[in-house]
Amino acid sequence: MKIAIACDHGGYRLKEVLKASMIAQGYEVIDFGTNSEDSVDYPDYAYKAAKAVADKECERGVVVCGTGIGVSIVANKVDGIRCALVHDLFSAKATRQHNDTNMIAMGGRVIGEGLALEILNTWLHTDYEGGRHDQRIEKMMAIEKQ
Ligand code: RB5
Repeated sequence: MKIAIACDHGGYRLKEVLKASMIAQGYEVIDFGTNSEDSVDYPDYAYKAAKAVADKECERGVVVCGTGIGVSIVANKVDGIRCALVHDLFSAKATRQHNDTNMIAMGGRVIGEGLALEILNTWLHTDYEGGRHDQRIEKMMAIEKQ
């Protein structure tokens, strides 16, 4: 599976940890930066990762900033993206099962590396349940076309 990843300076350290873990597990990771803790604007980076997912260059995307909020807002502005800001394991599982999210956002200043890695792995390995959730996702995505 090909995964897009991006961050700003606030998410740089966590992005490197998540990226290394995914590569070690055999995922192909496309890194859209940033690549240091020098201050940058998170929309520039989150947009690139979201666009790669929306254009089907990558199947899923991971975005990290200080809180996870900025990058999640940016990702969700891109047509076709369903990005969840997740800092707990219950939501990591539920957002795949119910929302079929194609991107996840986390805050490097919010959670520790251990929990972030568990969240990422749960999210990567949980399947969408379909069924009653299909019509809800269809309604959600129809809003983008209005
Ligand atoms: C950067 O200082 C910070 O605003 C950013 O990482 C993020 O938390 C925005 O939502």
